[in-house]
Amino acid sequence: MKYRPFPSDGRETSLLGFGTMRLPQNSGRDNDIDQEKSIEMIRYAIDHGVNYVDTAYFYHAGASERVTGKALQDGYREKVLIADKLPPWALKTEDDCMRVFEDQLKKLGVDYIDNYLIHNIFQFNWKKVKSMDLVGFVQKLKQEGLIRNFGFSYHGEVEGLFEEIIDFAPWDFVQIQLNYIDTEFQAGLKGYEYAHSKGIPVVVMEPLKGGKLTQQLPESIEKYWDGLGHSWSRAEWALKWLANLPGILTILSGMNTLDQVKENIRILSEAEADSLTAEELNIIENAAAEYRKLIAYACTGCRYCMPCPQRVDIPKVLEFRNNWDLFAHNPSLKRDFRIFIQNPPSACVECGECEGKCPQSLEIRKAMRESAGIFESKSR
Ligand SMILES: NC(=O)c1ccc[n+]([C@@H]2O[C@H](COP(=O)([O-])OP(=O)(O)OC[C@H]3O[C@@H](n4cnc5c(N)ncnc54)[C@H](OP(=O)(O)O)[C@@H]3O)[C@@H](O)[C@H]2O)c1
Repeated sequence: MKYRPFPSDGRETSLLGFGTMRLPQNSGRDNDIDQEKSIEMIRYAIDHGVNYVDTAYFYHAGASERVTGKALQDGYREKVLIADKLPPWALKTEDDCMRVFEDQLKKLGVDYIDNYLIHNIFQFNWKKVKSMDLVGFVQKLKQEGLIRNFGFSYHGEVEGLFEEIIDFAPWDFVQIQLNYIDTEFQAGLKGYEYAHSKGIPVVVMEPLKGGKLTQQLPESIEKYWDGLGHSWSRAEWALKWLANLPGILTILSGMNTLDQVKENIRILSEAEADSLTAEELNIIENAAAEYRKLIAYACTGCRYCMPCPQRVDIPKVLEFRNNWDLFAHNPSLKRDFRIFIQNPPSACVECGECEGKCPQSLEIRKAMRESAGIFESKSR
């Protein structure tokens, strides 16, 4: 495993971090985590050099922290930096902040958290974050030794806010979505460069766009990967592109099989900063440009939009909607849609609750209308 030093205390941080938002499940229910498999994967990762584990209050409807805590028993806690997050949308009073934090310590079974983030700051909640003085709250936790470092995660636009937040407090780190597609989306490369210029290390989330970058894609994209005769997997191209950026501290991946854990450990045990050639970077840029042309809704499957009051599985419908364009209106998609989608998008009453929660600011209502038109029409 490659390591990069955490600037505030010099602690070596593994370039691969374990994101616990996509743990394997026993059933379709988000909180029904396959505990045995998850613990095996997290411990395997730690035994092979991973020392950063990221969770949050709402991942897997609250079950992620509990399972992460179990995985970190038996001496594993001391080997890792735990990252957890304070959810502004769940807080009304200062007492709520402490109640949530204490609940998190309890669920994780620890008496301090290494890296504590204000979760998902963006244009619509920044005012609340300031008026509730959440930054003051996390700073106080640090002074009291209950956390070691404080930061924030960000899904807003880069223009107009990101730099303001970065300059607002002496953050120890920042967490942004970054991958070779999303270079000009949310914080993107501009946000990365700004944080890096201020000496703030960047933790990356959604490095594989929630797994979208590892799927078999149309030939117009796939053709690029063979360009130099490398035998790199799709995950390898994506993770090496990120590792190439020196300001990145750790790359969180939400792995859900042991094979994925093994592969990502291998990739990030070899990848170096500033090591990709101009030809390699060129290939990635060309593939990204083609992908951006084909994708209608940049959903990462994070499921922040759920639950839908009409019980439509929004991320699944969006996946079908995107695949319709990506795979040239392949008729078998209509058959699969009927098999896999229980509550059809026509059940959407356009309440818009989902759009207020989507970190990618997607026009979900429009996508539901389009999907109903495509997949629920009688034609085959
Ligand atoms: N703070 C926030 O606001 C926020 C938001 C989002 C995420 N996060 C954190 O960031 C973490 C990382 O984001 P992410 O989970 O979206 O990561 P990601 O690496 O972009 O996506 C994970 C998915 O990629 C696929 N994958 C991973 N390794 C693979 C490999 N070697 N080969 C093939 N497929 C592979 C799997 O998808 P399949 O299911 O297709 O196998 C997996 O579920 C999260 O787990 C969470 O801890 C934080």
